[in-house]
Amino acid sequence: MNNFLNINEVSQKNLEAIMEDASTIKSGAVSEESYIECLKNSITGLLFEKPSTRTRLSFEAAVLKLGGQVLNLRKDEIHLGKGETLQDTSAMVSLFLDLLVLRLYDEKKLYEFAQYSTIPIVNGLTNESHPCQVLTDVFTFQELRGSITGKKVVWLGVANNVFQSFLHAAVAFNFHIVFSGPEKFQPSEKMLGFIKKHNSNFLTIEPNPITAVENADLVVTDKWVSMHDSELPTADLKDLAKFRVTEKLLGFAKMEVLFMHCLPAERGQEVCEDIFNDKRCVVLQEAENRMHVQKSILRWCLGLF
Ligand code: CP
Ligand code: NVA
Repeated sequence: MNNFLNINEVSQKNLEAIMEDASTIKSGAVSEESYIECLKNSITGLLFEKPSTRTRLSFEAAVLKLGGQVLNLRKDEIHLGKGETLQDTSAMVSLFLDLLVLRLYDEKKLYEFAQYSTIPIVNGLTNESHPCQVLTDVFTFQELRGSITGKKVVWLGVANNVFQSFLHAAVAFNFHIVFSGPEKFQPSEKMLGFIKKHNSNFLTIEPNPITAVENADLVVTDKWVSMHDSELPTADLKDLAKFRVTEKLLGFAKMEVLFMHCLPAERGQEVCEDIFNDKRCVVLQEAENRMHVQKSILRWCLGLF
């Protein structure tokens, strides 16, 4: 049994194995029942403290397509946080379910859940990380452009939870990440500490978005205001506007650059509306691949490979 909590806690060998499994399943090359119905007789729980469209849909679809059952635990219909501890909730969930996908605010709670659980726990996003999204982004890049190793990935805007998972991925897959955003939204001490511990060369901070994007293989952004953030004052929005992804800005990257955004997007804010019709934009492939990669994350968590 394995937990999938953060990319930096899974070995490169296992991350590669998950993506290879996802490729095989996506290609439809395997037809044996034991493979395609591998979640038969199992129940996957989804417990989300925050809203979700893609993560919920893609996990539900992944489980159902692998022959399993899904149980949605609505936070307002269980005792967690209102008279029952996390420890007891985790123990109860372990009695009845085979796997649990959590979307929580506090990353510490995710680890506490995992500590008291006897079933695999999958991180479906916290305030600090979004590993299922970023592993899917690496998968999508590699599907379209080959190995991500040695490539230049540019993150524009706010160094948030998705960015932190990109840092973890940069170390795991050996690519270079350039952050470009206003000083106030630069990588946290924790993020810088992580990079320093591995090799500071994985990350460059470049205040000029044009210089940052030059020669990029992949450009990524995300909402400036995440679900756990408060609204930003106008002055911050004005500072961030310099880092908006536009067709003109993408023109400074390599010809074959890809643009990714985990979605939902605030169209016209971190990214211009017209990008969504640009052939360099692969947001729909990213979203679709969530299901394929998560099928393999679930299979790996259950020890099926
Ligand atoms: N990208 C992503 O995780 O989207 P949701 O918040 O809709 O799940
Ligand atoms: N950074 C965003 C990602 C949403 C999928 C958030 O946490 O709201």
